[in-house]
Amino acid sequence: MSGIILTPRLAKVCEFVRQGAFLADVGTDHAHLPLFLLEKEKIVGAVASDIAKGPIDRAREHIKKYPALEEKIHAVICDGLTSLEEYPITDIAICGMGGELIAYIIDRSDLAKKSGVRLILQPMTRAHKLRFYLAKRGFMIVGEGYAKEKNRIYQIICAEYTGTPYDISALNAYIGNGGGGENYKLLAQNEVKRLEREIRALELCGYECSFQKELLEKLRGETQ
Ligand SMILES: C[S@@+](CC[C@H](N)C(=O)[O-])C[C@H]1O[C@@H](n2cnc3c(N)ncnc32)[C@H](O)[C@@H]1O
Repeated sequence: MSGIILTPRLAKVCEFVRQGAFLADVGTDHAHLPLFLLEKEKIVGAVASDIAKGPIDRAREHIKKYPALEEKIHAVICDGLTSLEEYPITDIAICGMGGELIAYIIDRSDLAKKSGVRLILQPMTRAHKLRFYLAKRGFMIVGEGYAKEKNRIYQIICAEYTGTPYDISALNAYIGNGGGGENYKLLAQNEVKRLEREIRALELCGYECSFQKELLEKLRGETQ
């Protein structure tokens, strides 16, 4: 046993990684995700990348503790998906960053658009910006997941490039289409509270907020 215990958030991300995949874990930090998946023999290899030296040093230190896996995982310092073309990547995880940064990383990469490549995205904030981006640029959302840690619900978005843009409703963009499961309902409840606060602040400043009010009503409908 590796002893790597993933949080519910990263454990949910793992569910979307395909058996036999070669994983790019972008913004890997500790490299927990690829090490766990290698140990479980769900993936055949991985590149663990990060833009910053501290996290990549941390990843390398951690990888050294698993000599049997060391040759299957490459720790690389780079910005987003740039410089990763040499690896036979099939699945790309970009987790633990803001939705806009994830969209920016995808936007600068041809790898994300390669046929057969799957994106597994876990925005910490602004998931709606990421879903609007995916729809506009023709990345089909093929799966949605939700993970609960304390009172927070994390969203996981699985997408693949088709090149055909599509429309997405505001409700869908904010909380996904994950059906009426318990975590989905909790997410809707949390978003209701957040939006109520936002509307109060906007009204105090005299701003128009009909979009937020319409969305609030739809979100309330998802909390039951
Ligand atoms: C909060 S950590 C998330 C770690 C891990 N992916 C997780 O979900 O637990 C975010 C990591 O993303 C890295 N990062 C931020 N921007 C990046 C970029 N453009 N390219 C690669 N890594 C980036 C940061 O250095 C940091 O280590």
